[in-house]
Amino acid sequence: MSLAAVILAAGKGTRMKSDLPKVLHKICGLPMVCHVLKAAREAGSDRVILVAGFGGDLVEQETRGRAEVVFQHEQLGTAHALQQAAPILQDFAGDILVLCGDTPLVTADTLKRVVSAHRESGAQATVLTAVLDSPAGYGRVIRDNRGRVHRIVEEKDAAPEDLAVGEINTGIYCFKSRGLFETLGLVRPDNVQGEYYLPDVIGRYVGEDRVVTAVQVADPVEIMGINDRCQMALARAALAARINRQLMLSGVTITDPSAVYIDVGVTIGRDTVIYPGTIIEGDTVIGRGCSIGPFTQLVSARLGDNVAVRQSVIEDSDIGSNCVIGPYSYIRPGCVLDGQVKVGDFVELKKVKIGYGTKVPHLSYVGDAVLGRDVNVGAGTITCNYDGKKKWTTIIEDNAFIGSNANLVAPVRVGAGAVVGAGSTITKDVPDGALGVARDKQKNIPGWSGRKGRKGE
Ligand code: UD1
Ligand code: CA
Repeated sequence: MSLAAVILAAGKGTRMKSDLPKVLHKICGLPMVCHVLKAAREAGSDRVILVAGFGGDLVEQETRGRAEVVFQHEQLGTAHALQQAAPILQDFAGDILVLCGDTPLVTADTLKRVVSAHRESGAQATVLTAVLDSPAGYGRVIRDNRGRVHRIVEEKDAAPEDLAVGEINTGIYCFKSRGLFETLGLVRPDNVQGEYYLPDVIGRYVGEDRVVTAVQVADPVEIMGINDRCQMALARAALAARINRQLMLSGVTITDPSAVYIDVGVTIGRDTVIYPGTIIEGDTVIGRGCSIGPFTQLVSARLGDNVAVRQSVIEDSDIGSNCVIGPYSYIRPGCVLDGQVKVGDFVELKKVKIGYGTKVPHLSYVGDAVLGRDVNVGAGTITCNYDGKKKWTTIIEDNAFIGSNANLVAPVRVGAGAVVGAGSTITKDVPDGALGVARDKQKNIPGWSGRKGRKGE
């Protein structure tokens, strides 16, 4: 039996006070709606239809290739929203999962439970419910005296005895496609809000003696809806805790999970230790046995095994196994470090390829450069890569030794085994094995300290 998912996401999200559609706000590296999309796919949806409204073009761009987008131009209610998928799903023969774009914490496991309960009971509709201590704001699930779902009543339309019910409608349902769009067409906006309510379909089915079942969510945090940025922060914390927990259970040590922020797309190998103040973003991949942090930010970085990074930032770069980075290194996009490389304190790298065993231990800027194996770059070395118009490349071959405080004015090449004298400004290539020195000879003036009128006297 095939499964389609419809994600309702046309609401403006007024309380976000944002120019961006609510469902495109990111939580743990992914727009809210993409979390829902991912769960829908993992739960077995063969196709996903997204009902967009406010900022729909942006939503379409963000989900291109992963969802078919339909537009609801006026937000007349959830039933009206689902109706917009009719042109696409009218002839679809399977089951239809209905989800909300602003409940990013729902898991594929829960959706699978809804779909299998729906199929096992042969129900026309299955609703996911939750029992809450404070159900205020939600639609309440009213059951009959045999415990079967009878109808769903919105809070604004509810009688006092309905309000006392703690079981709420999560807004997530599974429907048989057959008959759904006909019934949706019968829903009338005869309620306090004047909206076309999707939950009215449930009451109609019950009235027609069709089977309606309910599944209760195990952890109500999953169905938490985001309406403002305070709720978004709570959702982020809950999702971050879930991500950290999964990583810890897979063999990663996180010394203080409340102080570590890891995006959903991150992969980390076992026996890696993550210290506080660390943010790991994008599709970063970290190998085994690494030590990351404290106070480190990795953005779409790829690290081998046994890499140690302290108080540093690494963006979109490859770091080989056994490298030692930081404290206070800044590795900008496009760097590729082979194994056993050391990048020390206050070093900035940009678009640099570095060979095995090379060291850039202190206070350097190396950009647009290719460094061979076992090179030693002295403290304070600068590659002068920019002439005001164009960027030029510096090449340093295997085993070269760059003395402290050298300026390498690109384009320039320092040959294999060559030495650059400390304090040199190198503008011409240094041949293999040569010493390149480019600085004034030292003059000593004897008796200087005894002279009259010396500065400072
Ligand atoms: C809805 C349910 C309520 C349930 C709650 C769970 C209805 C009438 N009520 O209420 O029983 O407890 O969800 O969170 O369905 N949307 C559209 N187009 C519209 C209206 C809404 O796409 O015209 C989308 C919204 O963007 C949102 C979802 O549908 O993703 C739910 O809409 P919302 O306005 O939040 O419904 P609630 O009033 O919270
Ligand atoms: Ca809502």
